[in-house]
Amino acid sequence: VKKIQIAIDGPAGAGKSTIAKIVAENLGFTYIDTGAMYRAVTYKALKQDIELSDAESLEKMVLNTSIILKPSQNGQLVFIDGEEVTQAIRSNEVTANVSQVAAHANIREILVAKQQELAANGGIVMDGRDIATHVLKDAELKIFMSASVEERARRRFIDNEKRGIPSTIEKLQEEIALRDKLDSEREASPLIQAEDAIYLDTTNLSIEEAANEILQLANQKM
Ligand code: C5P
Repeated sequence: VKKIQIAIDGPAGAGKSTIAKIVAENLGFTYIDTGAMYRAVTYKALKQDIELSDAESLEKMVLNTSIILKPSQNGQLVFIDGEEVTQAIRSNEVTANVSQVAAHANIREILVAKQQELAANGGIVMDGRDIATHVLKDAELKIFMSASVEERARRRFIDNEKRGIPSTIEKLQEEIALRDKLDSEREASPLIQAEDAIYLDTTNLSIEEAANEILQLANQKM
């Protein structure tokens, strides 16, 4: 089996992480959720009261931070400076602020280098916003995954319920639409479908159907 790189990009709530995890497990590949890195940085910046528009202070902080993504049974554990923050980085506060942090080109540069290092040996399924366009430009398989805003908000709502995070569908729809806007309109590596990416609309697909679709495409490349 060829240890290929699979890049999965798309807006918030399209099902990237759920589906990427299943694909990785089926292929015996490592799953890497790059959003977790931006979230971890945001988590620490909020904790340290760093002004999120201050790119220079953020950079100083990031250069003095250890972010470790540790593959685990149900995906990936996230550690920042040794503290396990897998759940903490999913809070409403981090979610509401992460796009502002992720818009800084200098912060992206540091995290992208880390992501490229993690993916260098292949056998990887990486999800994010700019994986196909920037991080892994030579990935053998590139997927751009999306779904209607309504469906994505509904999924996040169910997800949040499971995690015990309070939310309403309306609020989530607003939050998702705003994050999509910030991620797509920023100057540094905006969320955009790569020319050589395959578009996968998951609005009417089950998790299994979407995962199978990608597995089939992956098998053609291996
Ligand atoms: O994937 P997730 O929703 O956890 O990502 C959180 C945020 O991190 C995104 O809304 C985006 O602002 C940022 N992000 C990014 N580039 C990536 C992954 C995430 O800018 N590759």
